[in-house]
Amino acid sequence: MTEQQQQVAVITGAASGIGRGLAERAAARGYALVLADRDSAALERLAAQLRTEGAAVLAQVTDVAEPGQLEELRDAALDRFGAVDLLFNNAGVMQTGSCWEISEAQWQRALAVNLGGVINGVRAFLPLLLAQGRPAHVVNTASLAGLLNSPFMAAYNVSKQAVVALSESLHYEMAALNQPIGISVLCPGPVVSEIMTSDQGQGADSEFNRLLDDHIRQGMSPPDVAELVFEAIAEKRFWILPHKGFKPALRTRLESVLSESNPQFTPFDPQGDAHVA
Ligand SMILES: NC(=O)c1ccc[n+]([C@@H]2O[C@H](COP(=O)([O-])OP(=O)(O)OC[C@H]3O[C@@H](n4cnc5c(N)ncnc54)[C@H](O)[C@@H]3O)[C@@H](O)[C@H]2O)c1
Repeated sequence: MTEQQQQVAVITGAASGIGRGLAERAAARGYALVLADRDSAALERLAAQLRTEGAAVLAQVTDVAEPGQLEELRDAALDRFGAVDLLFNNAGVMQTGSCWEISEAQWQRALAVNLGGVINGVRAFLPLLLAQGRPAHVVNTASLAGLLNSPFMAAYNVSKQAVVALSESLHYEMAALNQPIGISVLCPGPVVSEIMTSDQGQGADSEFNRLLDDHIRQGMSPPDVAELVFEAIAEKRFWILPHKGFKPALRTRLESVLSESNPQFTPFDPQGDAHVA
């Protein structure tokens, strides 16, 4: 099969954690890969590894917070492979702290990368996917933090709830326009990754961040999450919820809305399943 006949997966935030898991699973499934990350060294290492294993890989240093860089990524993908079949808007950063102490820079970063990155990906790639006139699928990485709020994570919560809202709107739009483009939103709990130690992690010395890092390092493995994502794509399923233990907390939250009673933060599950990461 020539490169131009292979199915093509575009992954942002591909160099680490969940994105890396998605890249490895996509390669194992025979996809040609367009890998994007702002960390050029880690991106090149992954690209080299996957090429050694036989994958066709285009690796492009990209900051998803910059709309023009997503357009350049789309153009590069088209030039090299001629089409895009899967788009994973996955890049994200963690910002923690109380609502009033999160700095303006932290707020900007959380919104520019976590939400802006998905908006930029959708705005750059959807016109192409629609013009191709054939089935395609978009997976936006949100979080359980997109469904449940918790203290000291407001910037992250706000950005991730917006990703869920955007994804749901996009899903309705594809249905309204009768387009063969599936939309999914990935809302994991803890998954082993570098999100708390990457250079965008703020206040990394705080006790809260250390606990969160410990929790994440005991989480699900990225390849396991990626496998669940590919199952959901095959089923054209919107919600991808790798952890199930959060459901009672979500039910309690929705009940508080419907009964107009004050919400109460549900402490996280000692098994890790119900915690929002
Ligand atoms: N790890 C978890 O427990 C968890 C849980 C729920 C959701 N998520 C989400 O999963 C996604 C992936 O995070 P992860 O946990 O694998 O973290 P990670 O830090 O291991 O990987 C994120 C990757 O994104 C890249 N990145 C960061 N900012 C970028 C930017 N502006 N442009 C391009 N690339 C950028 C980083 O360089 C890194 O390679 C994020 O959206 C995160 O919010 C993670």
